[in-house]
Amino acid sequence: MKPDFTRRLLQWNKNSNTRAMPWKGEKDPYKIWLSEIILQQTRVEQGWSYYEKFIAAFPTIIHLAKASDEKVFKMWEGLGYYSRCKNLIATARKIASEYNGIFPATYDEIEALPGIGPYTASAISSFAFNLPHAVLDGNVQRIIARYFGITTPIDTTAGKKQFQNLAQELLKPDEPGIYNQAIMDFGAVICKPQNPLCNTCVQQKECEAFNQNTVSQLPVKQKALIRKERWFYYFIIEHKGKWYIKQRTGKDIWENLFEFVLYEAPAAVEDITLKTPFLKKLVNGQKAAHIESISRIYRQQLTHQTIHGRFVKVKVQEPLPTLSNFLLIDKKELSKYAFPRFITTFLGEPAPPAQLF
Ligand code: ADE
Repeated sequence: MKPDFTRRLLQWNKNSNTRAMPWKGEKDPYKIWLSEIILQQTRVEQGWSYYEKFIAAFPTIIHLAKASDEKVFKMWEGLGYYSRCKNLIATARKIASEYNGIFPATYDEIEALPGIGPYTASAISSFAFNLPHAVLDGNVQRIIARYFGITTPIDTTAGKKQFQNLAQELLKPDEPGIYNQAIMDFGAVICKPQNPLCNTCVQQKECEAFNQNTVSQLPVKQKALIRKERWFYYFIIEHKGKWYIKQRTGKDIWENLFEFVLYEAPAAVEDITLKTPFLKKLVNGQKAAHIESISRIYRQQLTHQTIHGRFVKVKVQEPLPTLSNFLLIDKKELSKYAFPRFITTFLGEPAPPAQLF
């Protein structure tokens, strides 16, 4: 049953897999690593252009290691989950300084690099160095759970072990790179989370879930994902044609990215006026301060939280002493700083007609 799965997977890959991606068949570990970091939390369609942009700007890991943090962050803008970007920089510099710019060629050394877990280490070491490590992520878990009809929850210790063992047993050890890319593609193209293509699937006859009509119920998860709701009110304070911005710090989302003056509210704020306590305190009685516009509600879905928010443009005549730790930058300079997508989406939309408040 197991060898048959592998044989049919590779047959499907050879005869019917038309999925094309720029990193497919790549042997340079630097390029493979870069693509895998981008794809950790990003869909292929979105990551594709970033990959090409990075390779063009940094053809080798040395180029990347020598780039400034700001430049790399700016290029990462829009991809989200910025700890990946921080680790990308750290790993490039580590390989430049400790490995003479040459990507390490063993699984253990690769896995010890910042931002690289077992999945990414398996992908790199199999694609670049032909090492027999099977990739295991949610996609592979789904394929295995369905094919073998496994009901052990994937988010338990027992489940993780069971799926890890099966994944490794299914691997074709003499062609680990081809096998790993094939199973990734199979999960994306055929054994999809929703509307899998069972009718054209080469595994259909032996697929337990198909035979028991449980495809849509597998894999099983013990804990449902609980998402936190957050409300972000961004005040774009303009003083003499300049805007206040600040770099985010701390362990929260969007670490190191720039933002406007933020008020995070415990719940949606219905009405925003100069009397809204946060804004009142901020402008501190300045007579000429006025609200220029209030945006629509924006929403961004992250893995563990949903961000809702609005952008409020405020003009002030005098500088605001409460914002002494902010930068006051010309609007034309905005493009030099990396902002979260939540903010660039707003900045990229045409301004609504000015409203009077
Ligand atoms: N997701 C993670 N790695 C991938 C790869 N090499 N190809 C397609 N999707 C992926």
